[in-house]
Amino acid sequence: MTTVSTPDTAAQHRGFGVDVGGSGIKGGIVDLATGRLVGDRVKLPTPQPATPGAVAETVAAVVNEFGWTGPLGVTYPGVIQDGVVKTGANVDPAWIGANVRDVIGAELAGQDVTVLNDADAAGVAEARYGAGRDHTGVIVLLTFGTGIGSAVIHNGVLLPNTEFGHLDVGGKEAEHRAAASVKEKRGWSYEKWTRQVTKVLVAIENALWPDLFIAGGGISRKADKWLPLLQNRTPVVAAALQNTAGIVGAAMAAEPGFGVEEPR
Ligand code: BGC
Repeated sequence: MTTVSTPDTAAQHRGFGVDVGGSGIKGGIVDLATGRLVGDRVKLPTPQPATPGAVAETVAAVVNEFGWTGPLGVTYPGVIQDGVVKTGANVDPAWIGANVRDVIGAELAGQDVTVLNDADAAGVAEARYGAGRDHTGVIVLLTFGTGIGSAVIHNGVLLPNTEFGHLDVGGKEAEHRAAASVKEKRGWSYEKWTRQVTKVLVAIENALWPDLFIAGGGISRKADKWLPLLQNRTPVVAAALQNTAGIVGAAMAAEPGFGVEEPR
């Protein structure tokens, strides 16, 4: 296949995102007009222990694979304020208090690094290019994985650092009730697990009244097995971008005009 490209125009619409996960650190160049990756993503294993310094080196290695020298966005699985880590329920405790912008920036010869919560990144990407693209109003994206991540987007603009995974739902933290890891650990059926997910969705919708839920995380690939079992009132759709959402949202965060202001 022959591809005709116009490098100058295309370059203006490109960004770079890195998604830091528990097992892999994934990055790629993003076409910000379409939300698609330009070429393949690169995935390197997350170093163990996943301390800030070790992760920063791996992020830099991913970025350097592409020779990317512009600004970039990076996800982190916890609350980030002004580049600084405030929480990390499922990460190495050494992250708390670290300025991720500075730690990663130091590995990258001064490139501008924007950091945001992993679910926030997935949320803005899904809202703009994925399952939420034809919807207005309030969208809540939830990622079901080791924990539960959340993002709230209102008409394309992110309300950063919501932590619905840590809501108390009937005397138990939402992510201890209904993360995908709970289903796996307990060997639950989809029916059994989905009853717990319903409780979490109902708690959120009673407080927030969203127009749409988007279900993300690896388990959303099996959405046909469990979305029909949910009993809450707000429509729930499966995430569409799958494993690129974090990369795409991170790249959006590094660019002005995408509804993602770095939390200050
Ligand atoms: C963290 C969130 C994160 C989610 C998914 C939760 O435990 O508190 O910030 O988005 O896990 O990684």
